Amino acid sequence: MYCIREVKCYEKPMNDHAPPPCAGLRIGDAAPDFEARSTIGPVRLSAFRGRWLVLFSHPADFTPVCTTEFVALAREAAAFEQRGCALMALSVDSLFSHFAWLRLIRDRFGIEVRFPIVEDPTLVIGRAYGMVSPADSDSATVRTTFFIDPAGTIRAMNCYPANLGRSVPEMLRILDGLQAIDAAGGLAPANWQPGDALLEPATHSLDEVFAAPEASDWFLRAACTPGQETR
Ligand code: BEZ
Repeated sequence: MYCIREVKCYEKPMNDHAPPPCAGLRIGDAAPDFEARSTIGPVRLSAFRGRWLVLFSHPADFTPVCTTEFVALAREAAAFEQRGCALMALSVDSLFSHFAWLRLIRDRFGIEVRFPIVEDPTLVIGRAYGMVSPADSDSATVRTTFFIDPAGTIRAMNCYPANLGRSVPEMLRILDGLQAIDAAGGLAPANWQPGDALLEPATHSLDEVFAAPEASDWFLRAACTPGQETR
């Protein structure tokens, strides 16, 4: 059932003792397609084309930090939905482990995790996405998050260690930033938040550099976010 339909080739290790390489996925790459069992039934990544998708791995079910992440994500599921974004989780644990964990989360925290959690016992998906740390001897996936746009392109990704939980507000901010950039064609500066102005790309014209009133005006210039005032 676990079928990677489009995976990048792994580089050959330098020698027998070298750690296996990560998949080497980069921003701008097509997200490798796969089909797998999940808590909502069989899922295929390419079936999510046309909407945003946050695909993320976690080290293991029934662990403290992962439990807090799933509770936090389930509580904000509507916020992802409002942004036209689906959530999909993945770990090495079996489907029945996922079920038992979600039942515990429902009973203990009063929240139902309704987004799919994929089982990846052979790690064929985790390895294709570089979710398995080459330095670790165990098979747990690290906290890798991929932000995949409606065309199936990886637009942002990040990786946290097992002992540090992700920030759901930051996941939403990344999504908001990518969607604002796509809508307005600008650049999101440091600490950008929805409603803040975007920046215009720097000019490529030397005449405009010399004509700019101030020395920074040719590369540091605010552009209005559609529907919002420039700050
Ligand atoms: C956790 O989610 O708490 C966790 C998972 C794997 C290793 C360490 C911590």
